[in-house]
Amino acid sequence: MDGLKIVTIGGGSSYTPELIEGFIKRYDELPVKELWLVDVPEGNEKLKNVGALAKRMVEKAGVPIDIKLSLDRREALPGADFVTTQIRVGQLGARAKDETIPLKYGVIGQETNGPGGLFKGLRTIPVILDICRDIETLCPDAWLINFSNPAGMVTEAVLRYSNISKTIGLCNVPIGMRMGISEMLGVDVERVHIDFAGLNHMVYGLNVYLDGKNITDDVLNKLVSGEGMTMKNIVNLGWEKDFIKALGALPCPYHRYYYQTSKMLEEEQKDYAEKGSRAEVVQQLENELFELYKNTELSEKPKQLEERGGAYYSDAACSLINSIYNDKQDIQPVNTRNNGAIASIPAESAVEVNCVITKDGPRPIAVGDLPVAVRGLVQQIKSFERVSAEAAVMGDYHKALLAMVINPLVPSDSIAKDLLDEMLEAHRYYLPRFNENVVS
Ligand code: G6P
Repeated sequence: MDGLKIVTIGGGSSYTPELIEGFIKRYDELPVKELWLVDVPEGNEKLKNVGALAKRMVEKAGVPIDIKLSLDRREALPGADFVTTQIRVGQLGARAKDETIPLKYGVIGQETNGPGGLFKGLRTIPVILDICRDIETLCPDAWLINFSNPAGMVTEAVLRYSNISKTIGLCNVPIGMRMGISEMLGVDVERVHIDFAGLNHMVYGLNVYLDGKNITDDVLNKLVSGEGMTMKNIVNLGWEKDFIKALGALPCPYHRYYYQTSKMLEEEQKDYAEKGSRAEVVQQLENELFELYKNTELSEKPKQLEERGGAYYSDAACSLINSIYNDKQDIQPVNTRNNGAIASIPAESAVEVNCVITKDGPRPIAVGDLPVAVRGLVQQIKSFERVSAEAAVMGDYHKALLAMVINPLVPSDSIAKDLLDEMLEAHRYYLPRFNENVVS
């Protein structure tokens, strides 16, 4: 095998060392010969810092991966086999606004849900579609593996508004749920299998298996006692016992924003008063991580990286790339074209389901339909994603307002409008399609 060329856009991310570790440990079966780390000028310092660590990591591991850095993706893309995207348009400053402005209106402020999710999408989708156009001309046979949030909405946008069909959206919530359950049960994560179905950050575990035996009820019983099952960035408030039993499926950590809205809003407002937004907490973590990365003695992924909610994202990406490259036909939960896997979601929409991963990409495993009790919320979020994506592509104020109003976390049309107007102004610089006179 003459090896692969992989391009990572957003390569200056603090998560990149996990990606490097993932390629190093798989090198024998996934021989990456060239890995380009690409970022924007604002991220140049981070890129040089992370890039130097990446080079030390591969050198210490003794694997011949040629790490290249660039601020110009068009220089990096030609001949790429896989393009991964992990971008945060507007960096953490924009995320802080997404998480704090809604709180002023008594609305959940969150990175990928509610008004924050809408604006993360409005900022990110145009940039990802520009990248798709470059992929089309410079590496048309490449796979696009996206884990820029909101990953589900972004995948929906790429499927609907680009010519890139070889695209997969990735998230670490499913692996996080499997790890949470394996820790709860005190077993190896490989023994736990979950039937995932839904959307990104809106995915349910319809059934849980241990060594092939259905243990869903046992797991739900443990959940209600507050055991396990959340991420570093989402508080675990426990669940009402009778609700979870009635639900009969495993909610993901993000469902707390929908099934425990008032309690989560209270927590957010308390946390914000005490320690600032999650973005500010993460900025502190990032500063510490980049200080660590500067240390030329460091040549491995630091443990501190597991303090981020996005831990294991990159390893999921490496595992996915490995399974495509080697036609492993194993089962992985990814965001891909529904193709009828979930009956109540349009065939051409993006869903997050278990797929058989082949050399031709993910093959979604049929779910049938979602339980009646969860179908409505999933369809409402899919409507929100589709209208948000259209608003992002068109720079259309009325579509953006419609998306804001139909989001289940926004209580009224007047609050939606006030929130939209304030957030459009706050993010003005990163929304060129809404502001012709802003050159991004
Ligand atoms: C989770 C989600 C990611 C999200 C991350 C935030 O893992 O799956 O999509 O970006 O948490 O973590 P952070 O540490 O940045 O708050």
